[in-house]
Amino acid sequence: MTAASEVSFSVPFLDLGGVNNGVREEFDLAWKTVLDHGHFVGGPEVERFEGEFAAYCEAKACIGVANGTDALELILSGLGIGRGDEVIVPTNTFIATAEAVCATGARPRFVDVCPDTLLIDPAAVQAAINSSTAAIMAVHLYGQMVDPEPISAIAAAHGLALIEDAAQAHGARHRGTSAGGVGIAAGFSFYPGKNLGALGDGGAVVTSDLALADRIRSMANHGRSVADRYLHDLPGRNSRLDTLQAALLSAKLPRLTAGNARRAAAMAAYREMLPQGCTPVSVQPGAEPVYHLAVVQVDDRSDVCAALTAAGIGWGVHYPIPCHRQPALASLHEPASVGHECPIAHEFPVAEHAAGRILSLPMSPTLTIEQVARVCDVLGGAV
Ligand SMILES: Cc1ncc(COP(=O)(O)O)c(C=O)c1O
Repeated sequence: MTAASEVSFSVPFLDLGGVNNGVREEFDLAWKTVLDHGHFVGGPEVERFEGEFAAYCEAKACIGVANGTDALELILSGLGIGRGDEVIVPTNTFIATAEAVCATGARPRFVDVCPDTLLIDPAAVQAAINSSTAAIMAVHLYGQMVDPEPISAIAAAHGLALIEDAAQAHGARHRGTSAGGVGIAAGFSFYPGKNLGALGDGGAVVTSDLALADRIRSMANHGRSVADRYLHDLPGRNSRLDTLQAALLSAKLPRLTAGNARRAAAMAAYREMLPQGCTPVSVQPGAEPVYHLAVVQVDDRSDVCAALTAAGIGWGVHYPIPCHRQPALASLHEPASVGHECPIAHEFPVAEHAAGRILSLPMSPTLTIEQVARVCDVLGGAV
């Protein structure tokens, strides 16, 4: 859900033009270089970016793939998760987290989120584990990492794979651990609006398990063997990061840390200026979020949104319909699912309540304190 696109915004929801304009010269050079050498798929820029991004995430390996959804699906498939397995997924996430699970033949088992952070609730995870559970998806939503300690302890105690959905968390940290360094592997998205965004679709798997990395690299490239390109020894598909996108991402990566810091400064300004009745999502002790989104909770969201739109201020809602209420996933909650010894939770009160109240305010590395003040001023008149 986003504000009407025909309005011309005084404060845009995301200033993508401003972000990309700062890298124009590097983009021009990247395009010229790739056009000159002509290796549009699998060119040298892919390996270069993979090395840079693995280092950025403090992981041993990175595999560039076509998008973030594929990254998650490839991690699951690379771990051998599929039909008959269940994967625990927070219901408050973008549907892609659940889609990736369904695409492997496994089934998402939705759980509720914590009321203060709206991130996956470890107690709900613990309660959802049953004999079919194979993995837990820790979604670092809005740019804040799931606290690694409790979720890792649960995964370890039950022998489950812990997978990070880090699509919204490039560069996020928690007590010295970086997004991509908690689970067996993490999936990142380079969708244009992400903190590190390509000029098209893109994604990556980051892992320090080198055997898993080799398997995923092969599966993303038609299951091709390293020794013989005409031998396909794994079930594969085509999910590769284009050379051009890799080159553009390498041009943007050196600016990611500074961009994240500017997002954090804008969020700090929001916290100072937000009116009563407009409550930002909490930050856990030890967390260093990268504020992919600036999410607050309000009582009368439609009135607040109308006031923002009237003032030319962009907004969004992430997400107004929790995954368990999405028609495409509804059958997962039908009685056919009996047979599991752990009862399926049909109600997710925290996520349901939050879905009607959450509101994403403008957030960009280019957002100025004056723009934050303007947004807060309009909010003050509306809440
Ligand atoms: C939490 C989350 N997971 C997964 C994805 C999927 O990424 P992509 O759009 O690159 O497939 C997104 C992207 O929007 C996301 O926000």
